Amino acid sequence: MKKFFINTYGCQMNVHESEKLAGILYQRGYIQAKSNDDADVILLNTCCIRETAETRVLGNLGIIKKIKEKRPEVIVGICGCMPQKPGTAEMLKKRCPFIDIIFGTHNMYCLNEYLDKAEAHHKVVEIWDKEGDIETAPVHRDGGVNAWVNIMYGCDNFCSYCIVPYVRGRERSRDFNEIVSEVRSLIESGYKEVTLLGQNVNSYGGGSPQFAKLLRALSEFDGEYRIKFMTSHPKDLTEDVVMAMASSDKIANYIHLPVQAGSDRILKLMNRKYTSREYLDKIKMIRSYIPDVGISSDLMVGFPTETEEDYLCSENLIKEVKYNNLYTFIYSRRSGTVADKMDDQIDLKTKTERIERLIKLQFEIGNELARSYIGNTYRVLCDTVENGIGYGKSSCDKSISFKAEENHKGKFINVKITEAKNNKLIGEID
Ligand code: SAH
Ligand code: SF4
Ligand code: F3S
Repeated sequence: MKKFFINTYGCQMNVHESEKLAGILYQRGYIQAKSNDDADVILLNTCCIRETAETRVLGNLGIIKKIKEKRPEVIVGICGCMPQKPGTAEMLKKRCPFIDIIFGTHNMYCLNEYLDKAEAHHKVVEIWDKEGDIETAPVHRDGGVNAWVNIMYGCDNFCSYCIVPYVRGRERSRDFNEIVSEVRSLIESGYKEVTLLGQNVNSYGGGSPQFAKLLRALSEFDGEYRIKFMTSHPKDLTEDVVMAMASSDKIANYIHLPVQAGSDRILKLMNRKYTSREYLDKIKMIRSYIPDVGISSDLMVGFPTETEEDYLCSENLIKEVKYNNLYTFIYSRRSGTVADKMDDQIDLKTKTERIERLIKLQFEIGNELARSYIGNTYRVLCDTVENGIGYGKSSCDKSISFKAEENHKGKFINVKITEAKNNKLIGEID
């Protein structure tokens, strides 16, 4: 039996798309290998959100080249956001002539056809410049606790720093009833958590009334389970969505609401379409309906023209919000985007120094928050048990570990927090 191995980079969208690539490969009669070394087909499902993401892929290609030299019959394919970026497929073709198949984000569903060609010793380089209709592929899920479900594809927001609208195409939403039936069957087959995916879920179906309706429809199934979703764009998150969250214990009390910057001048240059005041008002609104809500965010330092004063606005914002989790990034120039053409790019030394200060500040905030949770009891969905320790998350997305037995995996358990160590919550079964 032939074996495949998929190397996945980037966001949850890509993680889920690799499950679809695996679905196509299983349908072809292939099975999963343990690593690149024992695979007959090696795929790289790539990301190009920042330069570091691309560097990682290129580094791994160096290792795969050596595998190909030892075993020339191995088929190597690269797909996803990186080859979709203008100019990159040609660069890969020249720099890595050992690659057999290069394809993008819009023609992922053609993998079967491309493998036929590659097995007949033809090279394939095929990038579509436009999204096709929403197509489906068989999904091969690993049977863990959480399942991913796409509700939409693409993005129309064109934040000035971001490559996603160029590599994922225009925004399009999946059919309402199709999503409801997919989620229903996942819950019926034993998944305890389903995460809905989209670059901007609040514009599902053209606007938040549709998204709120979807959340309500997904709260109707029997049994204990949790629905999560990501990502929410602050400009589109509305009260009706928060009310839908608050009115159902099936929708997790958690929201990822990326702010990107604290300075209004920078937010405007980023084309985010909200001010820091409007953002903070949304946070207040969410907390008024769901007091114990978990909120996380993405924040970038070193956007072109960012001054020390702008940076300090970001510090002030995170002090005010007190996020449960903050994902911090150094701004990275992406060719083709509006911000790439701006003057006053910030030097790496300043960017590095700012991100270090930001990480340190968030660490202190996180520690203080963690200590304040001691004594609280959370309902934890245990996703892993290792060496007698269970790991899982609360509805508000707090990661909690506790003494557990093997059969706790996949169960909801009440855990009382007894200790907080460096942002980590430790508890015992209540
Ligand atoms: N659609 C989501 C997330 C997209 S990418 C949203 O709107 O928030 C995930 C995160 O990567 C972004 O939130 C942003 O913080 C970061 N990011 C995007 N482009 C970047 C760039 N050019 N440099 C650094 N970070 C970037
Ligand atoms: Fe990128 Fe903005 Fe779209 Fe998010 S909303 S994917 S940051 S363009
Ligand atoms: Fe990366 Fe593409 Fe996701 S660029 S972050 S894998 S949409």
